[in-house]
Amino acid sequence: MKFIKNKKTVSFLASGRGSNFSAVARKIVSKEINAKLGILVCDKSDAKALSIAKEEFEMNSYFVDPKSYFTKTEYEEKIVKLLKEAKTDLVVTAGYMRILSPYFVNEFKNRIINIHPALLPSFPGLNAQSQAFDYGVKFTGCTSHFIDEGTDTGPIIMQSAVRIYDSDLLSDVSARILAEEHRVLPESVKLFCEDKLRIVGRTVITK
Ligand code: GRF
Repeated sequence: MKFIKNKKTVSFLASGRGSNFSAVARKIVSKEINAKLGILVCDKSDAKALSIAKEEFEMNSYFVDPKSYFTKTEYEEKIVKLLKEAKTDLVVTAGYMRILSPYFVNEFKNRIINIHPALLPSFPGLNAQSQAFDYGVKFTGCTSHFIDEGTDTGPIIMQSAVRIYDSDLLSDVSARILAEEHRVLPESVKLFCEDKLRIVGRTVITK
């Protein structure tokens, strides 16, 4: 493994179940990813990710209620403040169901990684698994990418394809995609933390 002098601090934004957050955090704890655990911020008080953070990882986690702020900018300023206080180098959006504003993206330029459950640029936005399933494609998958100002448009880091079989239910396809997300997201974070990702234009080169 390449020796990295300064370990990066990885923080997370999530809204729900937290399985992708957990997949990355576990690899940081086990030292498969050479990084420090930062904080978790959720926009839902009942997000399972919050209890996972507390119980499994004993990490600082915050519910920041969007309804308590007059504007999206004020809400995001609070999150940015928490992330910066935690000395965050990389933000991982793991099932965070809000679009980040240009202000937020600029605060962490080329330092926010998202996982999307389809092969971008196909099927961006919500319910990507069912968009692909309903369209009738034979392959779908997942994409890890840096977040830019658009929705699911940032430079692509990794992709993994999964087959859709005639006998599949949507739940079969979603489960197959999720298993790949749990592989692709931690691997992408690992590469970032080892300084192995370089963005050239909109292409990500792995050193
Ligand atoms: C994942 O499918 C992710 O790709 C999508 O939302 C889902 C979140 O799942 N953006 P989890 O909360 O990580 O279990």
